[in-house]
Amino acid sequence: MSDTTTDRRGATASPKISVRDVKKTFTLKNEEFVALGGVDLDIADNEFVTVVGPSGCGKSTLMNILAGLDEPTAGEALVDGVAVDGPGPERGVIFQQYALFPWLTVRQNVEFGLKTAKVPRAERRERADYFIRMVGLEQFADALPKMLSGGMKQRCAIARAYAVNPSILLMDEPFGALDALTRVKLQEQLLDTWSQEKRTVMFITHDVDEAVFLANRVVVMAARPGRIFDVIDVNLPYPRTEDVRLSPEFGELRNRVWHSVYHQSTATAGSSDHRTASSSPTT
Ligand SMILES: Nc1ncnc2c1ncn2[C@@H]1O[C@H](COP(=O)(O)OP(=O)(O)OP(=O)(O)O)[C@@H](O)[C@H]1O
Ligand SMILES: [Mg+2]
Repeated sequence: MSDTTTDRRGATASPKISVRDVKKTFTLKNEEFVALGGVDLDIADNEFVTVVGPSGCGKSTLMNILAGLDEPTAGEALVDGVAVDGPGPERGVIFQQYALFPWLTVRQNVEFGLKTAKVPRAERRERADYFIRMVGLEQFADALPKMLSGGMKQRCAIARAYAVNPSILLMDEPFGALDALTRVKLQEQLLDTWSQEKRTVMFITHDVDEAVFLANRVVVMAARPGRIFDVIDVNLPYPRTEDVRLSPEFGELRNRVWHSVYHQSTATAGSSDHRTASSSPTT
């Protein structure tokens, strides 16, 4: 297949991330459980892809494989054309549970990865402060995580992930534990940050509105076995303002994604979309 055209995985030439027929089987009490039954997905450079799907459909498993924290049973995950082999500094990972070091201040947390990468002290400080400002935490740079609200902790985690300058951000339900208002604010802030500092993002969420609001493309997964069920292009303009959120086009996309997630037994996957990804959807 030509590399210059959009292919069945849904992305254009030279994808940043490429998932090729990835299968993942777990053995539980001598029984095999197929968590991923063959997933194909390409994500273009600087693309923002959200992933939604019922609990247990393999979203985190897929992300962990891309993060290099887990290995596929078959198939491969590639970043810039190279097979993933363990974690790497070009992939920043943000988990649902704020993974901050409680004994370090906000600034020290953000500086941590830079220290590991042996970035000199002055540059470390400058870079950390830049990203702390970007997420609006400058007044809390010297605070410990226990003094921060959930949303602030998550902003700190985002600053920390950005500070090491990864070209890819892998985010697993990062706003899952937050109240609706904080969540909307962080969505807007994340998009602000992304528009200033473009990255390739894979963002997992249970929230259909969030999936549509953030994405260039929404990937809908289904369970048993975990697979890609549908891929929906979000052709809404950025910046995604409140007007965009309240527009009829947003509403239509939201309904389509909702239907695809919650009526998977009756929906026809990828009905009219040539970009529909993946493995055969329903068999
Ligand atoms: N280490 C493991 N050992 C055994 N089974 C596992 C393991 N990790 C995941 N699974 C199983 O694989 C399936 C997919 O899990 P995964 O965590 O990827 O789902 P998910 O889509 O992220 O779900 P959620 O939306 O609830 O976070 C689940 O049925 C889970 O029980
Ligand atoms: Mg999960």
